[in-house]
Amino acid sequence: MEIFLFGIFTILFLFTIIIVLKIIALKNVVYKKPEILSNKKILTVYYSNGGNTKSVGNNLQSIVGGDLKEIELTEKYPKNIFKMSNIIRKQMKEDFIPQIKNIDIAQYDIIFVGSPIWNFSISLPIKAFLKNNSFDNKIIIPFITYSGGSNKAKIVNEIKYLSNTNDIKKTLFTFENGFFLIKEQIIKWLNNL
Ligand SMILES: Cc1cc2nc3c(=O)[nH]c(=O)nc-3n(C[C@H](O)[C@H](O)[C@H](O)COP(=O)(O)O)c2cc1C
Repeated sequence: MEIFLFGIFTILFLFTIIIVLKIIALKNVVYKKPEILSNKKILTVYYSNGGNTKSVGNNLQSIVGGDLKEIELTEKYPKNIFKMSNIIRKQMKEDFIPQIKNIDIAQYDIIFVGSPIWNFSISLPIKAFLKNNSFDNKIIIPFITYSGGSNKAKIVNEIKYLSNTNDIKKTLFTFENGFFLIKEQIIKWLNNL
């Protein structure tokens, strides 16, 4: 019994050390503007129903500069989460693409695209945005928020398929709004683009 408790304690102790070291490493991260963003017109565009993706998008834009735009639906989803989830489930089953207000992306070279995950897929308003626009000669850099399960490769493939481009840079996945050290998480990702 004593050996068992000692084992558990050692594992917890090592786990805590690893987390603390990771936090220290993250805290010391310094932003170096990636080559890919040099002299480029940058747009950060996102859809957010509950505010998480908006929060990550705001933090991202405050680091990379450029313009920030929120995708708006012509017809909003109900505020009630259960009603909303039912509508989304039905729309996804029927491959329905909602109408969104147009965002002119012509002048931009780099487009950061932010979406929550819905039912293991990219959100429907972002589906609409990727389908409605041409991304020729543009680079898409996705950032995704989620709260449970996500098949990251599937989400990236969806973005490639919908936008009809393979020129997609490394995607940032954050749990909800990233909770703590979100700016540092974003910088670490940008430094490795
Ligand atoms: C209808 C619906 C479906 C969702 N499906 C998933 C899912 O399959 N996997 C997951 O990890 N999170 C899922 N979530 C959670 C959201 O992806 C997560 O909370 C996200 O950060 C919400 O972003 P927002 O606040 O910008 O809308 C779902 C949320 C909603 C409303």
